[in-house]
Amino acid sequence: MSEPTVLISEADIQRRVTELAAQISGDYAGAGEITLIAVLKGAFIFLADLSRRLTVPRRIEFMALSSYEEGSVHSGAVRLVMDLREGVEGRHILVVEDIVDTGRTLHYLIELLKTREPASVRTCALVRKKDRHEVEVDIDYLGFDIPDVWVVGYGLDYAERHRALPYIGVVEPDDQ
Ligand code: PRP
Repeated sequence: MSEPTVLISEADIQRRVTELAAQISGDYAGAGEITLIAVLKGAFIFLADLSRRLTVPRRIEFMALSSYEEGSVHSGAVRLVMDLREGVEGRHILVVEDIVDTGRTLHYLIELLKTREPASVRTCALVRKKDRHEVEVDIDYLGFDIPDVWVVGYGLDYAERHRALPYIGVVEPDDQ
């Protein structure tokens, strides 16, 4: 596999995360506590930076879903790997995702959460591959649109590598 080349710099990510946090804080001002639900594993770094810049009361929860096999081969199905520990009835939910690719994961998650009767559900994603969408899904707060390339870093991996990079880079997977 090639070494990553920079697609979105650390400075650009940090600037955009600050903007998103300000926008979210403004939109939810006076709404009471929001529940950030981060989708593991990829969203953990984005969540850490975003949540620390919010100025509204928030709690943090995690779910784990999986849509990819090892490497870059898409399995097609979304699998719930880890559920919430508590109910979310009556809560304002903000789902935090690192990347929206086909849209299947976020769509599955939104539909699942809606059955639990929250007060509201919105979505925040750092990057979106718009050309790859197979399922229509609304992203209320979006960091960046990116082309259809394999991205790593800032939480995103290729076969568990490169998650801790401070920037988002592009690699060419071995199996493409
Ligand atoms: C990635 C990413 C999203 C999902 C998006 O997770 O974190 O959850 O894929 O793809 P989709 O829009 O095509 O559904 P992945 O399954 O790679 O797991 P990970 O976050 O644990 O690496």
